[in-house]
Amino acid sequence: MCGIVGYVGKKNAVQVVMQGLSRLEYRGYDSAGIAFLPNVGHATHLQKYQGQLSVLQNHIRELDPTAIMAIGHTRWATHGVPSDANAHPHKYGRVQVVHNGIIENYAHIKNQLLAEGHHFSSETDTEVIAHLIDQQLSLNKNPLDALRTVADILRGAYSLAISLDGDPHKLYFAKLRSPLLLGRSHDGVFIASDEFALVDFGPQVAELVDGDFGYISEDEVEIFSLVEKTTALRKLSWQPLRAVADQVSKGSFKHFMHKEIFEQPEAIKRALAGRVGDGKINLPGLGLDFSKAQVKRIHIVACGSAYYAGLVAKTDLEAMLKISVDVEIASEYRYRQTLTDEHTLVIAISQSGETADTLAAIEKALSLNASCMSICNVVGSAIWRKCEGSVGNLSLNAGPEISVASTKAFTSQIVVAKLLALALAKHLGGLSADEEVSKVRALLSLPHKITDLLGSDNMVRLLASNFIDHPKMLYIGRGDLYPIAYEGALKMKELAYIFAEGYPAGELKHGPIATVDSDMPVVVLFGNDDLMAKTLSNLSEVKARGAKIISIAPMNAELVQEDSDFFIGLDEVDPFVASLMSAVIVQLLAYHLCDLKGLDVDKPRNLAKSVTVE
Ligand code: AGP
Repeated sequence: MCGIVGYVGKKNAVQVVMQGLSRLEYRGYDSAGIAFLPNVGHATHLQKYQGQLSVLQNHIRELDPTAIMAIGHTRWATHGVPSDANAHPHKYGRVQVVHNGIIENYAHIKNQLLAEGHHFSSETDTEVIAHLIDQQLSLNKNPLDALRTVADILRGAYSLAISLDGDPHKLYFAKLRSPLLLGRSHDGVFIASDEFALVDFGPQVAELVDGDFGYISEDEVEIFSLVEKTTALRKLSWQPLRAVADQVSKGSFKHFMHKEIFEQPEAIKRALAGRVGDGKINLPGLGLDFSKAQVKRIHIVACGSAYYAGLVAKTDLEAMLKISVDVEIASEYRYRQTLTDEHTLVIAISQSGETADTLAAIEKALSLNASCMSICNVVGSAIWRKCEGSVGNLSLNAGPEISVASTKAFTSQIVVAKLLALALAKHLGGLSADEEVSKVRALLSLPHKITDLLGSDNMVRLLASNFIDHPKMLYIGRGDLYPIAYEGALKMKELAYIFAEGYPAGELKHGPIATVDSDMPVVVLFGNDDLMAKTLSNLSEVKARGAKIISIAPMNAELVQEDSDFFIGLDEVDPFVASLMSAVIVQLLAYHLCDLKGLDVDKPRNLAKSVTVE
């Protein structure tokens, strides 16, 4: 995901913006740039380069600049390859602009501008914004009217930070379907796409909402709404910054991902806090309003790991509520004819709360009068805000997840979805007291069980060292464990860049077993349930074809251990939470293989932490 940082004030604006951009590196990018104004009356300097932030830093260091204003950007390429020319900021005439999102009608706009004699220096959609604003300024419009006109023309999603030559004290902004916030402190004002960019400056922050546009200076903020079509100034709600520096530091860990894997016991405790008590579900603690929801069916919409968490949730929701639950890939759900209606509860699962496809899926569900809620890690995110007016939101409370590969958010999504299933069952009257107590007890046992399990860390690293040169892996499991097989394969793809596939174990004989040979390690996931024997047969099938077997199974599964080349034993847990134990091991396996291969653990190639483009 791209990152935006802007600053005007008494500090050195270049240092502030570069520090802010460094805090956003974890989200993934392929180029970076900055436009800065050394002082009033000076010309704006612009430096932008493909590559890591350090490339830009090295060029800037030579200038050793001081500046009163700056806007900076880390770009994750959408329109146009990663290159110096396509990096932001984009400048035209008096206008410098940085942009997150996609301008869907940029081609039409660009053709119109070309026909009017404009020349472009990049392949990006963003550059048309600079041309349009400068064009409006040339019509003697004041900057706000120019910005309003241009924002009205643009279609798609954008968060913009803009600086204007000759306007040295103001940062202009506009926001539609892409996160953007303002910050203010005693020595300056900020614009940022993510509050972590500001964690070193600790300002008060105010989230912008769709349709907001205006400017901020050290003395004032003027903010209007395109959506509300009003000329009245919109009041902002300033809050203390939630992010704190230690949350975004690796501590004693080599990588954020390793730290976040080890944070899972604490994250699960936070997911449960206030929501269970005396061995029971604390309905008011969930803060959800089901009074308006006539739930006849449930649709879960999500992407990636969150989708796999939804597959685990489906089993619990259907078993406890006795209604149908469909788990939908958000990028498919949003475009097809669905059975969503006023009797449907749509649950968005999302760590970031900004995933474009999941956001669009929720907007579609709301337009179909469904009752909507989210299971989300970022309070105030776009998805969070969309659901506030409907059933509400369940926060993961997992704390910031910095590493691109989701770990603690994934297990917290599963835990919170299980809490939701118990709460809905209790609300609808289908949960016996004994079942409630046993399942809550199982959830409460997880932090301790996972803490013990993390003691396998070194053993998993040693195991991973056997597979450094394997180009492929297969993960299989049954019941609640086949979604974990999917997740394990996804982790291996996104971290070790090898082709890994997850499959329901029973599906092997319908094709995938043809790929199994002595060069295919197979990770077999076992729960302590009546599916163990079936899964053991699947283990034998792939072993007979030469596969190396890595089994992740209950400690006492002796037959499994005998038939496996590598065996990771799990402490016994209630089947209700078995999926989470296996999830931790597949996370560690992918982490260590990635690290052993010398790859970039926290910022895997081609990936972004939050996919806000479609
Ligand atoms: C998980 O490791 C991936 N980074 C990715 O699949 C992620 O789960 C997906 O993009 C959904 O993100 P969200 O939870 O922020 O919506």
